[in-house]
Amino acid sequence: MSTKRDLGAGLQERNSEFAGLTMTAVERDTYGSAELLQVRTVGRPTATGDDVLVAVGAAGLDRGAWHVMTGRPYLMRIAGFGLRRPKNRGLGSELAGVVEALGPNVTGLAVGDAVFGVGRASFAEYALAAADKLARIPANLTHEQAAAVPVSGITALQALRDKGRIQAGQSVLIIGASGGVGTLAVQIAKALGAQVTGVCSTAKTDLVRSLGADHVIDYTAEDIATSNRRYDLVLDIGGNRSLRTLRRLLTTSGTLVIVGGEGGVDGSGSAASSARSPCPRSFANGWSRSSPTRTATTSTRSER
Ligand SMILES: NC(=O)c1ccc[n+]([C@@H]2O[C@H](COP(=O)([O-])OP(=O)(O)OC[C@H]3O[C@@H](n4cnc5c(N)ncnc54)[C@H](OP(=O)(O)O)[C@@H]3O)[C@@H](O)[C@H]2O)c1
Repeated sequence: MSTKRDLGAGLQERNSEFAGLTMTAVERDTYGSAELLQVRTVGRPTATGDDVLVAVGAAGLDRGAWHVMTGRPYLMRIAGFGLRRPKNRGLGSELAGVVEALGPNVTGLAVGDAVFGVGRASFAEYALAAADKLARIPANLTHEQAAAVPVSGITALQALRDKGRIQAGQSVLIIGASGGVGTLAVQIAKALGAQVTGVCSTAKTDLVRSLGADHVIDYTAEDIATSNRRYDLVLDIGGNRSLRTLRRLLTTSGTLVIVGGEGGVDGSGSAASSARSPCPRSFANGWSRSSPTRTATTSTRSER
């Protein structure tokens, strides 16, 4: 029987097989538009500690990738991404693929497993991910489908379940139901037993209905700010409505969760909406505020 030490030594040997190997990756040296991205041949990373090396089958392109590429909103540069230029040349976090090598501390995964999750610099042939940010791909999903889920899915789940404390039977309004986060939020809210109303543009109403929404509001035809309906939980993902407008949509004990807000010249939203970081936060009627939490690349705000 092999001991943990033998296994660790075996994995290190396998990792050393990759030392000195190269791969193709998408990189950049400065913040800016997609034109600045370059396809380069670079060193293949090696899995150490709790990391897993994944041979990338598909990489997801969530909103966060655009923020990291452009360095906007500027606050994120101060927050550690690199003030004048990006600290990391690589881009991309969502991935799906096959485990190529394991760091010595990793248990529960094996070389050859098909996995998906949140990694680092996933726009490459190989990428590292912490083992606890990966899960096995369900048999009915392709790599492409699985790679589109992690960040948007965690954002939607965290917003509804952790911050919104969604309960079966509640009425839930999802503003931005047709987007990356919203399409997953509609499905999660329905799976958790809520009555879901989705807000989106005309062209996407059929999509949102097909995801299970009980009611769909076309924001180009109906102004939800003037609606008399009240909801137990409002998830605001798009449209940059004021807090005042959003709170009016809540029942007296309702909860508002703000996931993000794009718009404005630098993609961070206008000054008035810059409190809407591109990360989810939640509030509940009555204004008691919980401290931000983090999972993967998201945080959440609450107001009660
Ligand atoms: N994707 C992620 O993983 C992630 C993670 C954390 C935070 N966020 C943040 O969450 C926000 C949304 O991200 P996303 O990826 O879901 O974006 P997205 O795919 O671009 O979706 C935006 C959604 O907002 C809707 N929308 C636009 N204008 C609207 C209006 N006036 N009223 C109501 N709805 C409107 C869009 O509807 P139509 O398309 O039908 O117009 C669409 O459903 C961003 O601020 C992002 O930074 C995203």
